[in-house]
Amino acid sequence: MADVTDDALRLLAADAEDPAEVAIEGSLRPRSLDEYIGQREVKTNLGVLLQAARAREEAADHVLLYGPPGLGKTTLATIIARELGVNVRYTSGPAIERPGDLAAVLTSLDERDVLFIDEIHRLNHAVEEILYPAMEDFALDVMIGKGPSARSLRLTLKPFTVVGATTRAGRISSPLRDRFGATYRLDFYTERELTEIVERSAGILGVRIDSGAAVAIARRGRGTPRIVNRLLKRVRDHAEVHGDGHVTEQVAREAMRLLEIDDEGLDSTDRKLLAAIIQKFGSGPVGVAALAAVLSEEIETIEDVYEPFLLRLGFLDRTPQGRIATDAARGHLAALGYEIPPPRRGDSDILPLWEAAGPGAVDE
Ligand SMILES: Nc1ncnc2c1ncn2[C@@H]1O[C@H](COP(=O)(O)OP(=O)(O)O)[C@@H](O)[C@H]1O
Ligand SMILES: [Mg+2]
Repeated sequence: MADVTDDALRLLAADAEDPAEVAIEGSLRPRSLDEYIGQREVKTNLGVLLQAARAREEAADHVLLYGPPGLGKTTLATIIARELGVNVRYTSGPAIERPGDLAAVLTSLDERDVLFIDEIHRLNHAVEEILYPAMEDFALDVMIGKGPSARSLRLTLKPFTVVGATTRAGRISSPLRDRFGATYRLDFYTERELTEIVERSAGILGVRIDSGAAVAIARRGRGTPRIVNRLLKRVRDHAEVHGDGHVTEQVAREAMRLLEIDDEGLDSTDRKLLAAIIQKFGSGPVGVAALAAVLSEEIETIEDVYEPFLLRLGFLDRTPQGRIATDAARGHLAALGYEIPPPRRGDSDILPLWEAAGPGAVDE
């Protein structure tokens, strides 16, 4: 199989960085809880929280959203502000470098505004310390002066709501986690929900699409709205260049084949990851650091972008000893023509008893 192009890589990397893409994403973003497809439980609970805040005419409780990239965290933050009829300020953990940066943002908020902090697990410690009293008591502790004459002064902030987003709840410190009144986990979307998202997006973008094509895209969308939207745009381009722009199922399949996305929605990096475990590490267990080195990827990217979906597909197992490629993964790659050596871990199971127990047998 040909090497993956930057383009194809970007397609499935679930973050959006390109400004043009960010603009299109904005146009596809649901604007209310009603328009937000799927995540029923989250929507129900969040609906109650927002309604209660409105009824009390108070700032809503702080909300922590976690889940893999592209599932709708930023979208939900925007919806929360809209439903409360307040403004939202967007920032992120890495963007707030010093306590003073955060203090400046906090003092500029209006009553009941939403402060969205993306990648909140990446806040540095000094900034987090400022955030604790701000979230708990709407208070800002500032130091005046230096050395022995320094003293701390407490300023009062207008009540506001922090909406934090992170790819994994376990990444944030427990004192910070404790300051959120509500924590919601976003899960991968079902094929049906993704089909609905594809159809909605096609409507907004003015793309004529057959329902079979919408399903075909949804099926390869890794459970992720951002990815199905991106696939839809690529499939539309293909339909415009090679036809009259009408997206039939055949056009959709052909376009996704050219993008090297297989029937399970795996891209070439997913396959490389599984192939590495299977071929280089006897199907595992192998530590994520060794995998990252073989694939020249960041550990964090493997853990946050690739693994969650492979785990969900049942292609990957996480064990205390490391990652294991499952039989389903081995079967999937075998069907695609990959060479599949026997698994190391299975040796003692499949070898005849006298050999497994013989003098050459090694304890794992
Ligand atoms: N529940 C949803 N229904 C419809 N579209 C969605 C939904 N969640 C996300 N999207 C689409 O997916 C894109 C990515 O969502 P975003 O909120 O930026 O994800 P995250 O912040 O979790 O990475 C958005 O542009 C939006 O159009
Ligand atoms: Mg986001």
